[in-house]
Formats: sequence, structure tokens, C-alpha cells
Amino acid sequence: MATVVDPAKPKAKGLMGWIDERLPVSDFVRDHLTGYYAPKNFNFWYYFGSLALVVFVLQIFTGIFLTMHYKPSELAAFDSVEYIMREVEYGWLIRYMHSTGASAFFIMVYLHMTRAFLYGSYKRPRELLWLIGMLIYVALMAEAFMGYVLPWGNMSFWGAQVIVNLFGTIPVVGPGLVEWIRGDFGIADATLNRFFSFHVIAIPFALAMLIVLHLAALHTTGSNNPDGIEIKKNKDKNGIPVDGIPFHPYYTVKDIVGVGVFLTLFAIVVFFVPTLGGLFLEPPNFEPANALSTPLHIAPVWYFTAFYAILRAVPDQQFGALLMALAVVAFFFMPWLDRAKNNSMRYRGMVSKAHLGMFFITFIVLSYLGLQPAEGIYVLLARIFTALCFAYFLLLPFISKADGNGPVPERVTYHAH
Ligand code: HEM
Repeated sequence: MATVVDPAKPKAKGLMGWIDERLPVSDFVRDHLTGYYAPKNFNFWYYFGSLALVVFVLQIFTGIFLTMHYKPSELAAFDSVEYIMREVEYGWLIRYMHSTGASAFFIMVYLHMTRAFLYGSYKRPRELLWLIGMLIYVALMAEAFMGYVLPWGNMSFWGAQVIVNLFGTIPVVGPGLVEWIRGDFGIADATLNRFFSFHVIAIPFALAMLIVLHLAALHTTGSNNPDGIEIKKNKDKNGIPVDGIPFHPYYTVKDIVGVGVFLTLFAIVVFFVPTLGGLFLEPPNFEPANALSTPLHIAPVWYFTAFYAILRAVPDQQFGALLMALAVVAFFFMPWLDRAKNNSMRYRGMVSKAHLGMFFITFIVLSYLGLQPAEGIYVLLARIFTALCFAYFLLLPFISKADGNGPVPERVTYHAH
């Protein structure tokens, strides 16, 4: 085992010294905060990792209080949520913070991923960091889906019906698998119970572990930056990157500004528009689950609708489900699909920029289409944009190789505001 206190480094005295001899707290603070050097040119896009972490903590905190009053049973779930809203002191606040937090989590994660696309943060040597990020994203999807079933509203019930049935499209094992997931012949009490258990224990635990791994991988390779050049390649005589600044206090202060702005916007939604016109909480979910009454348009919450649009664009359900799964899987391969020499879009050509811009538009349009009824022009558009979505991944190796090799600066560029 490594020595707990490195004799070359100055030792803390008093209580801190006593703790350090038993637990290397000062070493940890030095290695990961005060002595951890991050590129000095972080911009707006670098707020969202720490904000995702803030939302994660918020969800755990509000989730604990919801669980004190929520009842995971077919007969009591809906009423227990109504009880939280009307009778429990500040129950409405806790619930709206949690439901708004779910959407906020995805907003943060999508912006966080957008940054990776802009600056090629998934590229070597950060492939594993990206893959762990993708596992977080998939775990988050499972967490949000199961959480949405818990209030046992009508959209909870029918949404679960649609999504669980998708597993039935898997050849041979599909039908058996659907029954196994549900624990019954329909979406029922057993399904609700196991979704509750996954939502409050299994997935949050997995998410916490993955976040720790994500940060460990980040601190191993060091952060990328808007110029996409490695600051570790240019160090001074003390071994400190010349384009780096200590994470603490510089970025802790920057991140606190982000948290302040975020919490202000978050509070505006929670207090004034908690349903956000049906986007964050859908109208059919204010009615109890009813197996005899299907909502007019079954649609998941906005953060899944891009993938849902792909599913419905294809007439054959089996092929649609396969394409939808492939659209998620494609993201995992980004580090190998992008063959540019440069990381950042700043130093790639116009074709690369247009290609990525088109992909962002495609994802937003698909998200919109997934919220609309699957009829007429919406289906036609969903087909066109599904094709464009896959075209992005298929063309990326060629475009990035041909158009991603412009000259990059020696040092990071930074303009103080
Ligand atoms: C709970 C969710 C997540 C948390 C708490 C989290 C946290 C963080 C933090 C604190 C950073 C450093 C600060 C920053 O770059 O903003 C970071 C960097 C990064 N994350 Fe995440 N992350 C999450 C999800 C994801 C997902 C879903 C992906 C991608 C699929 C991802 C990919 C990355 C990459 C590539 C970097 C390095 C970026 C760079 O240096 O340019 N993360 N993450």
C-alpha cells in the first residue's frame, strides 16, 4: 500500500495532521482541487458537468423525502402522490423540485454532451471517459423511465405498456422477456413494485458509482478545452502546464456562478410553471392509470422524443425498435467514428461544422416530431430526419478525416470577457 503521507510534501498539523495520518484528506484536496490544473480557457460549455452533479444531489435529496410518503402499490400510488401534493408540508415543493429536476438533469446532460461534440472531448485519450458518460446516459434513461411510472397516472401506465412491449420485438426471447420484466401478464402491481426498487436503490447507486468513475477518468486524462489541444504537452520547469490554472479556487468560483444562475432558472420553473405547458409533466398523468382508457397520443417526456420519433417513423415495429436502439448505440462509437486529427470544431473546415450543425438541428426536429401525433406530414418528416440522423454517423468517418486537419495554435487561446 502507498504511504498515506508523502514525506516530500509539507504535512498538516493539529487535527488535520491527525486525520491525514489516518485518511489522506489533504493529499486528496491537493491532487484533485488546489493542485489539479485545468485548462485556463474553459467557457460556458464547461458549466454543465458540475451542474449535472448538482442536479443529481438534488434528485437524491428530494427523492428521499418523496419516498417517506409515496406508496408503491397499484391501489395507493396515485393517491399517495396527491396526498404529497395537498397534505404533506411542502410536499408540493419537494415533488415539483423532483419532477423539474428530472428534466433539468437531461438539459444539463444534453448540453454537456453538446460540448463534447463541439470540442471532440470524446477523442483519444478520453475514450473511456466518454464511454462511462454514455453508460451514465443510459442509466439515466432507465432511471427517468421508471420514475415516470411511479405516480401511476394514465401516461405512466400506457408509457410503461409501450416501452416494456418494445422488448417483445427481440427475436425468440422477446415475449418471455416482456413477461419477466413486468412480473405479470400486464403492467401491474408487481411491475410498479420492482420499478420503485430500481428507481430508488439500484439505479441511483449505479449512477453514483459511474459518476465517481467518470471523475476518476477525467482526472487521469485531464480536461479537454475549447481549443482541443492537450495542455499536458506544454509544462514549465516545475511540471505545471503553462496553460493550466488550479481548479480551486478558479473553477470552484466559476462553477458557483453557474449554480447561482441555474438555481434561479430552476426556481422560476418550480414556482411558476412546474408542468411547463405539459412538457415536464404531461396532462394525462394527472388522471389515475386506467387500463380501459388509452390517452389520445401516447408520448414520452421531451427528453426521449427524438428516439421515439425514430421508433414511429418505421412501419415495422421490430425494425423501428432496432433503429431506435441503434441510434443510442451509435453515440458509444463516437471516439472511433471521428477520425479527425484535430479535436475542436474551431480548427476543422466548414463541411465539418455544417455536418455537426445539421446533426444538432436533426436531433431537435426529431424531439419535436416525437411529441406530435404519428400521422400525415409528421411521419414523413420523421422518416427524413431519421435518415439524416443516421447519415451523420455514417458520413462522420469520411468528413472528419478529410476536413479535420487544419493548423492548431501552440497555446490555448483565451479572451477575458
Ligand atoms: C450524471 C451525469 C454526469 C455528471 C455528474 C458528469 C460530470 C462531469 C464533470 C464534473 C466534468 C468536468 C467538468 C466539465 O467538463 O463540465 C465532466 C467532463 C466530461 N464528461 Fe461528464 N458528467 C455526466 C454525464 C456525462 C455524459 C452523459 C457524457 C457523455 C456521454 C459525459 C462526457 C464527458 C466528457 C467527454 C467530459 C470531458 C470534457 C472535456 O474535458 O472537454 N458526461 N463530466
